[in-house]
Amino acid sequence: MDEQKKNMLSLIQPTNTPHLGNYLGAMQNWVRLQNDYNCYFGIADLHSITVRQDPAKLRAQIKESYALLIAAGLDPEKSTLFVQGHNCHHAELSWILSCYTQFGELSRMTQFKDKSAKYSDNINAGLFTYPVLMAADILLYQADLVPVGADQKQHLELARNIAQRFNGVYGDTFTMPEPYITKTTAKVMSLQEPTKKMSKSDENPNASVWVLDDKDTIIRKFKRAVTDSEAEVCAREGKDGIINLMSIYSAVTGRSFEEIEAEFKGKGYGDFKLAVGEATADMLAPMQAEFKRISADKAYLENCMKQGAEKAYKATRKTLQKVHKKVGFVVL
Ligand code: TYM
Repeated sequence: MDEQKKNMLSLIQPTNTPHLGNYLGAMQNWVRLQNDYNCYFGIADLHSITVRQDPAKLRAQIKESYALLIAAGLDPEKSTLFVQGHNCHHAELSWILSCYTQFGELSRMTQFKDKSAKYSDNINAGLFTYPVLMAADILLYQADLVPVGADQKQHLELARNIAQRFNGVYGDTFTMPEPYITKTTAKVMSLQEPTKKMSKSDENPNASVWVLDDKDTIIRKFKRAVTDSEAEVCAREGKDGIINLMSIYSAVTGRSFEEIEAEFKGKGYGDFKLAVGEATADMLAPMQAEFKRISADKAYLENCMKQGAEKAYKATRKTLQKVHKKVGFVVL
């Protein structure tokens, strides 16, 4: 760990292959910022069981997500790449922090409200206390910066409130984390319902582009993207589908909205959709090739995971001991 650098942390759930929203909203920023911070990136396996999972599929997806972190360009030597459940400190701090979190605060979480409506036959306690575990993830590593998509903002605010409350009672214990959210890709929308965010649990197979989709599939999904009955590529109100495609194209190519409007002036949506599809597929191709290569090397992956688990455990021991002391536990 470099004492000069600040800490950055973020996690992703292994509930499915990451989609374009996960990549553009979060992972891409992780890669961009990794040299400027002491980085901790994790696979949130503990969070994922708040919704019922098939065990064999979950295990495979944890490995796939982990390999994708490396394939995306995160360096397991420089950064700590870990699986959350491999470091028991997460669950332990989560319990302690739950005693400093109010029932009312958790009841106000929009993700809890959405998920309990969607999975109404399984509104378990974990679904309710999910944001406390997320606060534990963040505060355990004394994270200064947390790069996420806009949907995690409320959870981050809760983590800040918990930190402030704890620090207020016991004196400086936790670093106050700041969210890092990129404007254009904070919320990548579904290709089929552009007023809804792209989501891993969407049942419509054309709604999300998965980062491991092949080029033809990506182009086909973009071709089928829901837009509007006009034919002008511009970011006007009411053109949610086009604005979403423009945001994706902008994030992938680095072009501004003005440049995109100029590029497609006088052309139809067909040309535009094809360009977005091709650019997206080309951007993902190196990561896909790297993923294929890394996935074949099971020993390498397992070794990285083991090292990540050790590094994560060591990095968080001090914080947990400090917390134990502050609340009045006997530290041996
Ligand atoms: P998860 O697995 O749902 O998503 C991983 C990251 O992707 C972002 N994201 C999006 N960004 C833009 N557009 C979208 N449509 C979109 N969908 C998802 C998310 O904001 C996230 O940054 N609770 C977290 C995982 C987590 C975590 C943490 C994150 C657990 N502990 C500690 C940060 C810090 C989650 O479910 O992300």
